Amino acid sequence: MYTQAMDLAPKEERKAVRSAEEAVLEERFEARIDAGDFIEAKDWMPEHYRKTLVRQISQHAHSEIVGMLPEGNWITRAPTLKRKAILLAKVQDEGGHGLYLYVAAETLGTTRDQMLAALHSGKAKYSSIFNYPTLTWADIGTIGWLVDGAAIMNQVPLTRCSYAPYARAMVRICREESFHQRQGYDSLLVMMKEGTDAQREMVQDAVNRWWWPSLMMFGPPDAESPNSAQSMRWGIKRISNDTLRQKFIDACVQQAQVLGVTLPDPDLKWNDARGSYDFGPIDWAEFWRVVGGHGPCNRERLAARVKAWDDGAWVRDAALAHARKQEAKQQEAA
Ligand code: 3HC
Repeated sequence: MYTQAMDLAPKEERKAVRSAEEAVLEERFEARIDAGDFIEAKDWMPEHYRKTLVRQISQHAHSEIVGMLPEGNWITRAPTLKRKAILLAKVQDEGGHGLYLYVAAETLGTTRDQMLAALHSGKAKYSSIFNYPTLTWADIGTIGWLVDGAAIMNQVPLTRCSYAPYARAMVRICREESFHQRQGYDSLLVMMKEGTDAQREMVQDAVNRWWWPSLMMFGPPDAESPNSAQSMRWGIKRISNDTLRQKFIDACVQQAQVLGVTLPDPDLKWNDARGSYDFGPIDWAEFWRVVGGHGPCNRERLAARVKAWDDGAWVRDAALAHARKQEAKQQEAA
């Protein structure tokens, strides 16, 4: 009787009951966030929190997968067997990171097919940095040092993200990213300290090209970042775009001195009062151009991903056929 009465209540009344319930749930959710609790996939969460996470985690997953392309380009041309083995392992790690992250996003009710369709249609974003070309071998070391270095700076705070499946994925990812950063720095150090003049020039040229795009990886300035305030409030992001960018610059200056390269910013100088380095203006018009699909390699990167997806259709079909056969066998046995 009671259920029937509920079912027959007018639509408006049912809506009011639901939103009153939702208000209580939302209050409890906010209290858990304030207390520093982690949210699990089975827990209630506001729709906007879920959407924000799907957006960020899927963009992050796409970045890892697209990020395999600029470096993958150099696997066949690595100068020694040792460097080739390291690069192979690194590119494989990036693929693994993408997979952990797609799974983390799937716990929020989106499917891998939906996320990949968004990437392949050009609707989804991925990190701007992977739309720049890798022109020489020094670019590979520089990506390790600067790009993976920036990634670690941004991603270590994500190990404390309020959404537990994302935070757990980030613990392993960050461990591997720190190996990536070290191998890049080591490769540059060898070229700078034991290499020829031409190799040293090649390193400086790579640093000149990657420095500014690496600073853009942290996202727009806080004042122009539409998602930051809410994401910080929910503990999805723990440290702001500008603060992370500054920490990265401060860390890189000394590393550049040890390497013997010059960072391409004439305004870079220590500011005693701030306890940080001042730096020159970032070209945000370039950043938005690249994010908007008009960087040097956007088309090429997307075309490579779409081709890989199309070429892999037979593998997915075979895996599905195998899974169906196994399931049928198990049912027969039961
Ligand atoms: N490239 C492309 N788009 C970017 C961007 C970048 N470097 N920085 C920001 N954007 C986009 C945002 O996605 C957002 O777009 P949307 O609202 O349409 O989704 C818009 O610009 C405004 O930026 P916000 O600062 O408001 O966005 P966020 O609050 O999401 O902050 C972020 C951006 C700091 C990148 C954050 O999403 C984040 O920390 N993401 C997780 C880490 C990540 O994705 N890193 C990418 C690199 S992965 C990597 O480097 C792999 C490694 O192996 C090298």
